[in-house]
Amino acid sequence: MSELNNIALKIIEKGKGILAADESTGTMTKRLDSVNVPSTPENRLLFRETLFSATSMTECIGGVILYDETIKQLSSKKNKIPELISNMGAAPGIKVDTGAKALAGSLDEKVTEGLDGLRERLKEYYKLGAKFTKWRGVYSISKNYPSKLSIEANAHALARYSALVQECNMVPIVEPEVLMDGEHSAKECYEKTSNVIKKCFEELILHKVDLTGIILKPNMILSGNKSKDKISNEEVAKLTLECLKNSVPSEVPGITFLSGGQSEIEATENLNLINKYNNTNFIMSYSYGRALQQSALKFWAKDIQNIDGTQKVFNHRAKMNTLAAQGKWSKDLEI
Ligand code: 13P
Repeated sequence: MSELNNIALKIIEKGKGILAADESTGTMTKRLDSVNVPSTPENRLLFRETLFSATSMTECIGGVILYDETIKQLSSKKNKIPELISNMGAAPGIKVDTGAKALAGSLDEKVTEGLDGLRERLKEYYKLGAKFTKWRGVYSISKNYPSKLSIEANAHALARYSALVQECNMVPIVEPEVLMDGEHSAKECYEKTSNVIKKCFEELILHKVDLTGIILKPNMILSGNKSKDKISNEEVAKLTLECLKNSVPSEVPGITFLSGGQSEIEATENLNLINKYNNTNFIMSYSYGRALQQSALKFWAKDIQNIDGTQKVFNHRAKMNTLAAQGKWSKDLEI
């Protein structure tokens, strides 16, 4: 087994998942604004440190994705944040893309940037303790989108990113996110997600990426948030499994879903069903941002010094998702 394969498997062992805490300062400011907490570096750190030092970090969280600001901050006890995370038993990770920008040639779509100078930035993050990285490509669904151009441009960037990350001995998380915004049906989401993922793997293989040393972070197959054609959670799980079985090479060790705007319970319930019906060899876990943090953030905002209370709320969500990653969750466990 390669070193990268070992790192990937450890992050998602025994129902563990990933805490995506890599919101850019702009996104984090929106999140904090929504609960009326000023978005200062100190407050951003306080909330994040509260999560990173919760007991569920040891039991449930195998990896944490950080943002550039956080990986360079010191905890309240003056420890480096990546050290705090490793001491809790999880792997520190880092978002390395620099965001999705308008795609020349199809300006309503986006292409993710950040390849320039990436090799040097990766070396720095590796020295800071990062074991894995994240890059998110983003695709919207409409009649003509995602276009061939956006599918190819983003797949190319994801592959070049992944090759550079593995060269630097870290595990790349490959995140092609097909957004749930829109009126599309689940069938459309299925077809478009499938095209996107297949193209990503074509490029990853072309760029000689070791598929045993990556983690795929896809969306689940859902109907659009403005669609009239809603499907059941069982159908979400079955379509998601079928789509991934047909588009992901079997060497890939693990798949960790993004929550993408699903509610906390929905994201947990769907993950649980995916694992109940999992007829693949892939480990299926979570890499949630909003679906792990929402309740904790709301609770924390009422009194930002209430560390224990906030950790309790976060621990519960992490535990529920770790049970779901083993197909062992049920609604009556929710409080
Ligand atoms: P959500 O789970 O909130 O979609 O965030 C996951 C993520 O990392 C998006 O890039």
